[in-house]
Amino acid sequence: MAGSMNRTDVAKLVEPDQVHRTVYHDPDIFEMEMQNIFHKVWVYCGHETQIPNKGDYWTVQIGKQPMIMVRDEDNIIQVLYNRCPHRGAMICGNQSGNTGKEFMCSYHAWRFKTNGKLDKVPLSGGYEGTRLSLDGNQADMKRAARVDSYRGFVFASLAKDGPSLVDFLGEGKVAFDDMCDRAPEGEVEIVPTCFRVIQRSNWKIFLENQLDALHPSITHESSGRAAADMEKQIKAASGKAPLEYHYLSAFVTVPLVEWDRTQTVNFPNGHSLLQGYMGLRPRDPDTLAYEAAMHKHYGEKRTEEILGVNIHHVLLYPGLSVQSPLQQLRAVRPLGPDRTLTEIWHFRLKGAPEAIYRRALGYYNLVNSPSTMINADDLENFWKCSQGLASDGGDWVSFHRNAGQDTDRNGIITSLRGTSEAPMRNQFRAWADWIAQP
Ligand code: FES
Ligand SMILES: [Fe+2]
Repeated sequence: MAGSMNRTDVAKLVEPDQVHRTVYHDPDIFEMEMQNIFHKVWVYCGHETQIPNKGDYWTVQIGKQPMIMVRDEDNIIQVLYNRCPHRGAMICGNQSGNTGKEFMCSYHAWRFKTNGKLDKVPLSGGYEGTRLSLDGNQADMKRAARVDSYRGFVFASLAKDGPSLVDFLGEGKVAFDDMCDRAPEGEVEIVPTCFRVIQRSNWKIFLENQLDALHPSITHESSGRAAADMEKQIKAASGKAPLEYHYLSAFVTVPLVEWDRTQTVNFPNGHSLLQGYMGLRPRDPDTLAYEAAMHKHYGEKRTEEILGVNIHHVLLYPGLSVQSPLQQLRAVRPLGPDRTLTEIWHFRLKGAPEAIYRRALGYYNLVNSPSTMINADDLENFWKCSQGLASDGGDWVSFHRNAGQDTDRNGIITSLRGTSEAPMRNQFRAWADWIAQP
């Protein structure tokens, strides 16, 4: 369908309160999204602690481009195209590793420094008198146009012009502040490695679901019910159930009306946050030890400010979902109109007791991992949406819930209710702007 459509026509498929189904499955629109969104905006590459040593690298997809995030000999994080300047072979076939002081292409052994600069080619005399200069940058590995990081979270943009990373993230950077501030040492450390899940659905469906406070009590009801029953039995038998059961039972013990009492705050560039901290401040010895470590580093007043931050979830459009209070991060990498990779990570708060880390790990395994029923519940919905949206059963997707009832202050939109579809409207506002850009 989009073959004959220009970018302005495609942007018109988005109305303030509904979206045409074509945007979820048309291959030409997917191509436009790659060119006009993912190849321009800041895309998350990884955390700097993923590559702690010189020569450490991690491969990552930015839009359609295979990239390498690597720590070079000067300790600078580089993001390079994973492509040999000779005949185009991919340089790193592995997902991650340490390449030493150099990358060497497996095809004809061109060697590159870890900043991408050509170092040596075999029998280099063969290039004398040719149009290929080995001295300039003609034979270097190409770098991402821009690389920057915020509190250890590394992003790259393939476009040389555009807003800075901090401007692009705007208020959404609170995701990283909230996560890092909760560490007594003010930093987090990644826990290798990640779960990787390929979903048979469009990338936008995943992101729409992240702040969809209408779905948890419904979609996850049966999973939550089973956990709540077990929690009750364990409590009856031993007086106390492990905190981890609460992560799952909350899907039934927190009723829909309570989700509705929360709010979302929606920022420019499609970023949003859902308020409502998950009430994880029990008075057990582990929490008290953690709070003591926080007091030591920050003092009591600042500790209370940090632990009182009211965030459940932050969405950084178009590629990240962050649950900062539990140190969870999911990166979304579109592979095709109906294929999406998610990389599911969690972090350790530096300076916090081991037991606090175990909570992040518990949430990671029980709620976000591919082995939990919670994730399976969501995946089933995503696949069903994908199927339904490819059918002729209707042309429009409704985002009418509480439309026109949000409060807009200087471009920051606060939703009337937690279950308002304001975050989805906000995502598509950014999407249409980016798509329409020349
Ligand atoms: S393709 Fe890499 S050295 Fe030839
Ligand atoms: Fe869900």
